[in-house]
Amino acid sequence: MRYKHFEAIEKHAGLLGVLIAIMVSLGGLAEITPLFVKASAAAAPPGYPPYDALRLAGKDIYVREGCYLCHSQMIRSLRFETQRYGEHSSASESAYDRPFQWGSKRTGPDLARVGGKYSDEWHRLHLTAPRAVVPESNMPNYAWLAERTVDVTTVQGRMQTLRRLGDPYTDADIAAAADALEDKTELDALVAYLQGLGVRNKPQAPGAPAAP
Ligand code: HEC
Repeated sequence: MRYKHFEAIEKHAGLLGVLIAIMVSLGGLAEITPLFVKASAAAAPPGYPPYDALRLAGKDIYVREGCYLCHSQMIRSLRFETQRYGEHSSASESAYDRPFQWGSKRTGPDLARVGGKYSDEWHRLHLTAPRAVVPESNMPNYAWLAERTVDVTTVQGRMQTLRRLGDPYTDADIAAAADALEDKTELDALVAYLQGLGVRNKPQAPGAPAAP
């Protein structure tokens, strides 16, 4: 009797296909659903500060310019990745990223630990004209970043919105953004953001002093 059921399925390619699709979907859901639940439960460790105003502005420029189309910010726990980039990424490092910038497309290198790898001056030159420092680079020029200043009210508005979502900004932090962003260009903000990656958001051992 049972055998007959199998025979019916095996002899009907359409039915077999549908049943395979159902089983594969169930398998996929069983793997993916827990990851989603875990990712949204990821919280910043206590004492771990949200982006300061300049870096927050830089993060938004990073998203606006689509840097994630060529750069991931997620080091996988595979030896060839950790040997090249450093310690693998953890969800808490992205606790203040909305949206997260993990990605999987790497036309350029992963940037999760790029902070401190180069000088600010190198980044300024590289973002303005990548081939001036890396002749074989196919990264686009972002020359306009140096010519545009960061809009203070937009950044303060974002800080207020993020506070509503749970990020620990104080009124003083939001007020201080005006001074911190005075005369800052988009290039200044993006470089500050890059220099903090893997440095300012590095998971701290309990009790360790927060990164400067
Ligand atoms: C078309 C793909 C592409 C886009 C878009 C792109 N990059 Fe790149 N990027 C590259 C490539 C390729 C390299 C490696 C060669 C080089 O250093 O220029 C690179 C290198 C870098 C590096 C040096 C990384 C290291 O470890 O040496 C940084 C920093 C960087 N990019 C930042 C950015 C930022 C910020 C943006 C958005 C404003 C951006 N990139 C957009 C392709 C891209």
